[in-house]
Amino acid sequence: MSQPADGRKTSSTSAPPRRPAVANPGPYVVFTPSGKRGHVPAGISVLDAARMFGVDLDSVCGGRGICGRCQVLLAEGAFAKHGITSAASHLSEFSSRETRYAEKRGLEQGRRLGCSARIHGDVVVDVPPESQRYRQIVRKRAELRDIEVDPLARLCYVEVAEPDMAHPRSDLERLLDALAEQWNAHDPAFDVALLPGLQKCLRAGKWKVTAALHLIDRGSAAGGREMLCALWPGFHERALGLAVDVGSTTIAAHLCDLASGAVLASAGMMNPQIRFGEDLMSRVSYIMMNPGGDGEMTDAVRTAVNTLAQQLCDEAGVQKEDVLDAAFAGNPIMHHLLLGMDPVELGGAPFALASGMAMDAFARDIGISLNEGARCYALPCIAGHVGADAAAVILSEAPHLAEEITLIVDVGTNAEIILGNRERLLAASSPTGPAFEGAQISCGQRAAPGAIERVRIDRESLEPKFRIIGSDLWSNEAGFAEAAADLGINGICGSGIVEALGEMFLSGIITPQGVIDGALSARTARIQAEGRTFSWVLQEEGEGQARIAITQEDVRAIQLAKAALHAGVRLLMDHLEIDKVERIVLAGAFGSHIDPLYALAIGLVPDCDVARVSSAGNAAGTGTRIALLNAAARAEIESVVRRVEKVETAMEARFQEHFVEAMAFPHKRHPYPHLEAAVNMTLPRLESAEAGAERPRRRRKRG
Ligand code: FES
Repeated sequence: MSQPADGRKTSSTSAPPRRPAVANPGPYVVFTPSGKRGHVPAGISVLDAARMFGVDLDSVCGGRGICGRCQVLLAEGAFAKHGITSAASHLSEFSSRETRYAEKRGLEQGRRLGCSARIHGDVVVDVPPESQRYRQIVRKRAELRDIEVDPLARLCYVEVAEPDMAHPRSDLERLLDALAEQWNAHDPAFDVALLPGLQKCLRAGKWKVTAALHLIDRGSAAGGREMLCALWPGFHERALGLAVDVGSTTIAAHLCDLASGAVLASAGMMNPQIRFGEDLMSRVSYIMMNPGGDGEMTDAVRTAVNTLAQQLCDEAGVQKEDVLDAAFAGNPIMHHLLLGMDPVELGGAPFALASGMAMDAFARDIGISLNEGARCYALPCIAGHVGADAAAVILSEAPHLAEEITLIVDVGTNAEIILGNRERLLAASSPTGPAFEGAQISCGQRAAPGAIERVRIDRESLEPKFRIIGSDLWSNEAGFAEAAADLGINGICGSGIVEALGEMFLSGIITPQGVIDGALSARTARIQAEGRTFSWVLQEEGEGQARIAITQEDVRAIQLAKAALHAGVRLLMDHLEIDKVERIVLAGAFGSHIDPLYALAIGLVPDCDVARVSSAGNAAGTGTRIALLNAAARAEIESVVRRVEKVETAMEARFQEHFVEAMAFPHKRHPYPHLEAAVNMTLPRLESAEAGAERPRRRRKRG
């Protein structure tokens, strides 16, 4: 038995054939990995045979030997399971078209062009992943589903009949005829913007052109219609897409290949709207105070997206005109400003969206400059304060498909909370304020080089060590001083504050009520009196270095912020009638930097197995990419968003009660057994701490 060209093993037993008995059956073909098989007429091309059986084999050039998307591998040998022997001689000779393609663009040993190779005998044909139109992108985390690549745009190379006085039909009509005949694209709509260049394009391509068809009207009863959106003379094979997550601080974008789903380039930039106000509410205030301010902010965000798109194309070495589709996500205010809607109503109750529905339009209609006919899609908003970015996170983390109860929190000035599973999904937002972003904290600063982001405190000596953004060294390691001198230590960022407070609580420096324990000043000079309260000093003032301390007011600010978030979560838990969650996802730019252990230690979220708490800072970006790459995902998220139950925290009587209880570290009433196991200690409880100054107890290790 001969082995296949790619070295795969084939079966060689002499078990009886299982091929169905058919009169004049013709050659038998088996496609792998799909397993689709059957008899075909002798002489049919592999591509046509694949179409006969609905095998996913790609083609852009329509079987003309140009695109190379139809490549297949022949598996040689005896296949007892199918009762056939597959041999290279059962396919037609290597054609001149294949030789031409191989010379021009290269063809791996053993590969054939499916549109050229004809079947004359029984064969087993393997379709490699890169020749499949519908591909899967495998995701790293086990709980996440893979991304199915099934974009809305497809490229079709067509040969158009030349004009004929005997049969007068317009150029456009003959182009549409060709699309129907050669690509089964019947009655597509067309973008009128194509008309001025249509005749020149057809003639430049000598009546051979590549058309981009984009699926529109997905929600229609007919399941959608295609629109002719772009046209190139001759053969064109690149179709790209842009996924953009418009955050209030950062705009992040990915440039993707729509055929493979591969990310070709990614980049982020500061949202230029920051000059109108640091946080969302100050930007809304700017609009209220300055007529036309919304237009200024819309221009600013669109210019930024256009700059990012150009930057990504330059980085990937491609043309912006190759970008045929774009998907956008953002919080409700960013969503409104990008689409040109005034967000003032979102600045206060009842937080009325102008429109939260998913939007499908030409990119040019919202001032985004890609290919002239490029389409764009904005994910739907869930509510007036739970945005399209949260919808994107749902697509990425898929709580609506899971059995386990998942809690997703995106911590910003307004925390977005999603809780539930495949049965029910609830959403709420909670006003956390800017404390987690470093505002309202005496030594707080934005996450930037030199900001303290990691903190540890020795439980016995109460001496701290820390790390800063931009250096991998701890402050007690050799070389740190030099790095710190270069970067300059100016403050502590949001994740650093969470760690500092978590460590302060776990080492007994702050009590469960959130009081910095002044009695400890006898043990460490880092506890210093400031009026009637105390501060904990992380770095003393010295030559070229600022004093960095956590004050009692700082602890209060974080308590208020975390209690607001936790109370929102508890409200949703009440609605679901549950008292524990099984999985927690910390999303958003801030969430991606919080160590899950400290999120539990300060009681930002309810107790949960630490291994089941993850940071997914790019979840909104990933969800936006899924919406870009998969038509069904758009329908899916639109349907999920319609059934998400919105809970208005401000309207709930129990919010205040939950809020007060959640002020304690980690919580006044609810125990944290998973946290205790993870830190190997029994946490002090509020009641005992009130009765006396009980210290956290180290649990003695067994064995
Ligand atoms: Fe394009 Fe075969 S379909 S080369």
